[in-house]
Amino acid sequence: MDRREFFLGSAAALSLGAALGTNALAQTDAPSIINVQNAVFDLGKGLTQGLVSTSADAPPPVLRMAKNRPVKLRVHNQLADYTSMHWHGLRIANKMDGVPYLTQFPIAPDESFDYEFTPPDSGTYWYHPHCQTMEQMAHGLTGVLVVEDKNDPEFDAELVLNLKDFHLDKTGALDSPYTKRGAARGGTMGNVMTTNWLQNPIYDAPAGGVVRLRIAATDTARIYRLALSGAKGKVVAMDGHATELLPWPTPENSLVLAPGQRVDMAIELPAEGTAVTLSHHALSGSRPLARIRPVGQSLNHALDDLPPLARNQLAEPDLSAAETHEFLFGWTPEADPQNNGWCGSLGYSFWSINKKPWPGDAEPNVGPLAELKLGKSYILRLRNESPNDHPIHLHGLVFKLLRSNKRDIPQIWTDTAHLLKDETMEVALVADNLGDWAFHCHVIEHQKTGLAGYLSVV
Ligand code: C2O
Ligand code: CU
Ligand code: CU
Repeated sequence: MDRREFFLGSAAALSLGAALGTNALAQTDAPSIINVQNAVFDLGKGLTQGLVSTSADAPPPVLRMAKNRPVKLRVHNQLADYTSMHWHGLRIANKMDGVPYLTQFPIAPDESFDYEFTPPDSGTYWYHPHCQTMEQMAHGLTGVLVVEDKNDPEFDAELVLNLKDFHLDKTGALDSPYTKRGAARGGTMGNVMTTNWLQNPIYDAPAGGVVRLRIAATDTARIYRLALSGAKGKVVAMDGHATELLPWPTPENSLVLAPGQRVDMAIELPAEGTAVTLSHHALSGSRPLARIRPVGQSLNHALDDLPPLARNQLAEPDLSAAETHEFLFGWTPEADPQNNGWCGSLGYSFWSINKKPWPGDAEPNVGPLAELKLGKSYILRLRNESPNDHPIHLHGLVFKLLRSNKRDIPQIWTDTAHLLKDETMEVALVADNLGDWAFHCHVIEHQKTGLAGYLSVV
């Protein structure tokens, strides 16, 4: 189906979608239900109403699945507005990718959509809506998705840390999460930094144990500069995929985690008595994000004995045969954008890919930024000609960083390339997943003011 057909068939397909869902699920095991709804929670300033989650009084849970095992998730929309759900980083069938008008219709209030897919890769991923993204994500609807691998080494414990900000006023009520000024620059930062919706929480873990941390940056704008102090450790995966190429972060040499990115660390906890701290190091000072308290008699396990994580099966691009496509990320302000407001428009437009601002999700006449042939290798040359950072995310495919004009970059596999000011980066991939794959900046105010598009694998 192309984008135009979506519009022509819209009313009929919405009800058909719901009917198909109920039938499809009749035969085998029932789906897990995800009820997208409003929530009330204490973010540290009294109870905040109007948050968005999957239960009435808690953050979205960690979703756990197993590599190569099919899952069924029914997303039921209990909000008063449209939504959809995207499984960030998973290389699954295009029609399960959760992008409104590109892969499915938005889910109307009281409707549901059945997502069925088989995650092909293990690692740390996340889920978030792709319709009304700005409001729903800023108000809480971001959760970590863990794909387990039976070949991974055993850890003594695992902690999942979902980093995001909230925008609260003095009374603890939600404030608008976006501003014209922020959208035109690096995004609007929140004023309450949280880990799993808590300010600087403390978690217990076995003293002397080797612990896996899965950290996800799910904020709509903040670029984290992470350091971990009080424990010996190493970075074991980035953006879902095992790697040993990244140095251990320190306050002087922090690990930069841009919106959408994840990092897995293995740490060797000390004996009881000293807490381990994860902190954010900005120019304006450092902030603790979470603490880990070693408890109990020391296990005396050594990080050095930890075997490497299991690797995912990713196709190595053939660089000698790869065709290059260039994408320019730039500033193209439009005074009076003709933005189609379906699925959320901020009402102004600043950004573009190849000089064309994305006109809104529900615009049927926009073709792909590039057409890639199934099974072929490509180099994407990503050029940022603006003074702001852009974490550029591609759905459904994984690419390998090759080189940058500004710095040495590790050749890791990822779904999100963090481009600095005026940086050009080349990345390579094999176009091995059919369909229309959203391609956008993960600073949501940039995405929603033009910096979005899609690539088609045909
Ligand atoms: Cu994490 Cu298109 O998104
Ligand atoms: Cu994604
Ligand atoms: Cu951006």
